[in-house]
Amino acid sequence: MTKPLIDPFQRAISYLRVSVTDRCDFRCVYCMSENMQFLPKKELLTLEELDRMCSAFVRLGVKKLRITGGEPLVRRDIMTFFRRMSRHLEAGDLHEVTLTTNGSQLSRFADDLYAAGIRRVNISLDTLDEAKFARVTRWGRLPQVLKGIDAAQKAGLKVKINTVALKGFNEDELFTLVDWCASRDMEITFIEVMPMGDLGGEDRVGQYWSLKDVRAELATRRTLTDIPKRTGGPARYVRVAETGQEIGFITPLSHNFCESCNRVRLTCTGELYMCLGQEDMADLRTPLRASDDDAGLEGAIRTAISHKPKGHDFDYSRARPEGQMTRHMSHTGG
Ligand code: 5AD
Ligand code: SF4
Repeated sequence: MTKPLIDPFQRAISYLRVSVTDRCDFRCVYCMSENMQFLPKKELLTLEELDRMCSAFVRLGVKKLRITGGEPLVRRDIMTFFRRMSRHLEAGDLHEVTLTTNGSQLSRFADDLYAAGIRRVNISLDTLDEAKFARVTRWGRLPQVLKGIDAAQKAGLKVKINTVALKGFNEDELFTLVDWCASRDMEITFIEVMPMGDLGGEDRVGQYWSLKDVRAELATRRTLTDIPKRTGGPARYVRVAETGQEIGFITPLSHNFCESCNRVRLTCTGELYMCLGQEDMADLRTPLRASDDDAGLEGAIRTAISHKPKGHDFDYSRARPEGQMTRHMSHTGG
């Protein structure tokens, strides 16, 4: 038996988020600039290297993988990777593989994903209005995503909608979105917008909308009760008495979840970020490429985890100006 990954604060690391590409077919205003510079291909882990990397984490006790991007489904031949991961699911070493997607490619891939053992997907959707959707994603088109959501549900995948809360943008759709999700048996999670990277010539679509206010607004027309569900991350959940629906709130800037943090993040270039809100990272690509044997890689993973910080100083008032992170969401994968 290999020893599981335990960090200096006795937190077991059982959850790995993996960004498989920094590219995306959308250009959401809060995530990317219009003319993003993407990484040269040789910087990226190959699908084979992603397999080795994830398999090493599974050997070290990771039970849940979330595949992110950029948009994971635009990575060429990504289904090969998902199919390879299914061997760990079948062996029972891995409990779950999920993905976070913008939904644009789901009509193509939903059935294959289900066949590879994926049972749940998170789909990002900020508005049900076609014109607003085009405005916030710049390159995205709503009907394509709605078709993707249909395909996912038809394939048997459980869908959760992720909505970035933007004041003056989707404020007026709060109940429309919540009711639409309830009618389709989907959970919805609201995400507070994070100040990530320098997005350049900013077409400001909406502004910061505190989830405290989102919740208060919901409570004017629905009966909400807190539920104890915890996923080891920043999400907190309520249940709507009227529909039984669960609604999540992700406030990434709050510190109230660090003590139960069970996760680390791997970028598409093989950097391991121990904490979303800190710059500290470990290069795992070098030990991976140094040898076909995984002993060096496993050692590097253990060393990295032994440096996992207690919490983040991701705060509007601390560290950098406005607490801005210098890296994009599409780099660390959210
Ligand atoms: N703030 C909050 N959420 C963001 N996402 C991307 N950039 C940001 C940001 N700056 C979200 C997407 C998606 C998830 C992958 O990350 O909307 O739901
Ligand atoms: Fe793409 Fe998601 Fe970023 Fe939008 S938020 S540009 S869909 S990675």
